Amino acid sequence: MTKQQISKDEQKILAARFAIDDLVARGIIRSGMKIGLGTGSTAMPAVTRIGELIAEGKLTGVRAVATSFQTTIACEKLGIPVFSMNAQTIGGKLDLAIDGADEVSPEKALIKGGGAALLLEKIVAYNAKAFVIVADSSKDVSSLGTKFPLPVEVIPEARESVALELARLGATVTLREGIRKAGPVVTDNGNLILDCLWKEAVAPAKLEDEIDDIVGVVENGFFTKNVPTVYVAREDGTVDRK
Ligand code: A5P
Repeated sequence: MTKQQISKDEQKILAARFAIDDLVARGIIRSGMKIGLGTGSTAMPAVTRIGELIAEGKLTGVRAVATSFQTTIACEKLGIPVFSMNAQTIGGKLDLAIDGADEVSPEKALIKGGGAALLLEKIVAYNAKAFVIVADSSKDVSSLGTKFPLPVEVIPEARESVALELARLGATVTLREGIRKAGPVVTDNGNLILDCLWKEAVAPAKLEDEIDDIVGVVENGFFTKNVPTVYVAREDGTVDRK
């Protein structure tokens, strides 16, 4: 008899809900905390689960920082109080950030920004005491940079000059085009996205800094400096925590 397998979409929901319940059970998510909320199809069910726990009175006094318009809208619908990182009650620092990822390496370095929200996601993740990633099994990869393109957010005026510098670093560079919108994707911050692919696996920690040193780059989608706890759902319906 073949064992029942669950789809990628089911894995995303499973990983997200499992992670929130596990973090609450282990006292890592508690009432009164300042929590950064990620963007994308795996982060959304985690946001929903937090909204449910607030509605049930099991989590109180939670203050959230949203990483995109998508997440802000979800929080507004779910009754999760949202603040700016700069609000006095947040003070630029968070207790925890939870988010999805596009790729996770064995060292738990990440590529993020498939939804073009990498800038706020990184501000939130790098200013959080604890960082948690939720993912389906397809995100688990042996190395970064050759399959899922690394997003680089750039100031529009620097599009060409940054693309040349990224090519010098060995990348094949593509300007991300909008869907159901003529022209390029414009991020929540008014910038453009250059997607970068390499022929061979790269060193993410070194490249993260090298790319950020290019004039006109706002941020890139390598996340190597706050190593997360990762919850990965598998096709057999189990969830690994690593
Ligand atoms: C948003 O810009 C991203 O960083 C997402 O967190 C990432 O692309 C994962 O998205 P999914 O959970 O939708 O696969």
